Amino acid sequence: MKVVQEEGKVLSNLEVATSIFLLDLRLPQAAKIAQPGQFLHLRISPLCDPLLRRPFSIHRTKPEKAEVSILYQVVGRGTELLSQKRPEESLDCLGPLGRGFTIPKGAGQFILVAGGIGIAPLIFLAESLLQKKGKGVVFLIGATSENYVLYKKELRCWGATVEVATDDGSEGHRGPVTDLLMQRLDRFAGNPQIFACGPEGMLQKVTQIALQRGIPCQLSLEQRMACGLGACLGCVVNTRSGYRRVCVDGPVFPASEVIFE
Ligand SMILES: Cc1cc2nc3c(=O)[nH]c(=O)nc-3n(C[C@H](O)[C@H](O)[C@H](O)COP(=O)(O)OP(=O)(O)OC[C@H]3O[C@@H](n4cnc5c(N)ncnc54)[C@H](O)[C@@H]3O)c2cc1C
Ligand code: FES
Repeated sequence: MKVVQEEGKVLSNLEVATSIFLLDLRLPQAAKIAQPGQFLHLRISPLCDPLLRRPFSIHRTKPEKAEVSILYQVVGRGTELLSQKRPEESLDCLGPLGRGFTIPKGAGQFILVAGGIGIAPLIFLAESLLQKKGKGVVFLIGATSENYVLYKKELRCWGATVEVATDDGSEGHRGPVTDLLMQRLDRFAGNPQIFACGPEGMLQKVTQIALQRGIPCQLSLEQRMACGLGACLGCVVNTRSGYRRVCVDGPVFPASEVIFE
């Protein structure tokens, strides 16, 4: 794995929904080689607070413009400081890191299931699938309310079928996005492949649905990280083949491998 350390220049850092920011960085090398599902490990402050880098999925790339975007939610000290970054400031970026999604041959339909900020890596995957295949991408967006439903129009424009579920029923189906997944699988007899990213409870439910129906499924997992390079074992998850490091063995794992605790 080629690891790149680059100084990323902030191009813009905009709040796209309450506490959700889209950060565009000029990051030429990462923009060229990043694959959907990989992540960047960002040193948010040159000082010691926060001491550790923070991991963020690569949300989109524009190789021709040498740009990489991340989509992030402010949840604590690191992301709060990140939200204060202004154009022209720079960020020490490590990456792209980790193993991303694998695109299997022969799948009849790609079903992407996003819960909350879990949409971040799936947009990169959807763009890439639609560029390669042109169709056959179903994107299920789960959000707390209509204000947090992102990328619906863009995804439709790119050729994806989009369905929405919100917790409060303000848009689309009222209830968990996994309801939409079950409905879709009930209607589709082909050869689907599921990709999911979101809160652990959602991933657990997606796994249960996929395993019951014998459908291949890949999950992008989030775990607290330190080194991001496989050395500290700070990010391990339990799998059927033993403990695995999310930073180098993942963050994407086959759902059939993951043991939820
Ligand atoms: C591979 C990977 C990709 C990720 N991609 C994204 C992304 O695209 N967008 C995004 O918004 N976030 C993403 N995350 C989560 C993100 O790294 C954390 O939200 C961030 O590190 C929090 O830093 P903080 O200093 O603001 O919060 P802290 O002050 O460190 O913690 C605040 C709260 O967030 C929780 N938290 C912290 N780190 C994580 C973590 N790694 N996973 C789950 N919960 C955590 C803590 O338990 C605590 O409750 C990703 C995590 C991983 C491992
Ligand atoms: S964060 Fe150190 S091994 Fe994964």
